[in-house]
Amino acid sequence: MEDVDALRRELLDAVNAAGDLETLDQVRVRALGKKGRITGLMKTLGDLDPEERKAAGQRLNALKEEVGEAIEQRRAVLEEAALDAQLEAEKVDITLPARPESPGRVHPISQTFDEVTAIFAAMGFEVAEGPDIEDDFHNFNALNIPPEHPARQMHDTFYLADPGDGGERPLLRTHTSPVQIRTMQHTTPPIRVIAPGRTFRCDSDMTHTPMFHQVEGLVVDRTTHMGHLKGCLIDFVKAYFEVPDVPTRFRPSFFPFTEPSAEMDIGCSHQGGGLTIGAGDDWMEILGCGMVHPNVLTACGIDPEVYQGFAFGLGMERIAMLKYGIPDLRTFFDADLRWLRHYGFAALDVPTLAGGLTR
Ligand code: DAH
Repeated sequence: MEDVDALRRELLDAVNAAGDLETLDQVRVRALGKKGRITGLMKTLGDLDPEERKAAGQRLNALKEEVGEAIEQRRAVLEEAALDAQLEAEKVDITLPARPESPGRVHPISQTFDEVTAIFAAMGFEVAEGPDIEDDFHNFNALNIPPEHPARQMHDTFYLADPGDGGERPLLRTHTSPVQIRTMQHTTPPIRVIAPGRTFRCDSDMTHTPMFHQVEGLVVDRTTHMGHLKGCLIDFVKAYFEVPDVPTRFRPSFFPFTEPSAEMDIGCSHQGGGLTIGAGDDWMEILGCGMVHPNVLTACGIDPEVYQGFAFGLGMERIAMLKYGIPDLRTFFDADLRWLRHYGFAALDVPTLAGGLTR
């Protein structure tokens, strides 16, 4: 039989010389694998006579154990070294100073969302969310806009690719109103939510961008009426525009999902070239609203004989432009740093009703 001592030295030297985990594994296979050196010697034991076999067997087992242990120890050392090397490579120097020359600014749309949310939260509204990719039921049908309804044309819908499984084509939601449906489907009234979010229409010019933002509002309870709708929205515009009194008027309008429907105008003045909210003899439309149509309640499993509600929807870019004097809608999405520095907000000035929406 081969000199076991020489083999032992050779294998242990190879284990200790292995500089990485891959080499170490090759050593393991060479020693202990199916065709390994020690395994090979084990196989020859059968040729020895019983006395010799016993002694040789013990020596080989001891060798196998020793080499196995040496490999495990070496593996632990190499693994730790590998981890150290990785941590060293990923090290971040936290003593580097922050760069004061380019502080981030909060985008006016984010600021407007925060302001609107703060105002409605103080009135007891919760924030509800829904997906950007919607289906026909939530975006149209359940909102009392059946397939042939002319209102569908006004929505310039972006449809996604045909799923190819016989199912309908998904679409990008054209308004935040589908969140009304999702909320009513899984909540028992009383309901009081706003749903801020992205909306999409295939439309692009001076006053339209293919992606824009809306906030939806929904209140459903047993005795909810038009007076609640008016009071809530009048309070909202006063708080949002930060003026003690704003003239408002509700003009009859049409939306398939509300009956009656109205558009809310606020008083303003265009005198002197600028726009002043809350004074003067002009009117400006700012949102659509109405009492939730009984068909919509029914589609969501809410009994219109027991419950009624009001809803409203307003465009974020529009109210941001009015409040902050931003003249062009498209600039919101230009990602122009100079624009952001001018119209953006300091990151830590979180709008609150107590501390002031804008400082
Ligand atoms: N979804 C409407 C739109 O995008 C806005 C709207 C109008 C929402 C009246 C409402 C509402 O909830 O009651 O044009």
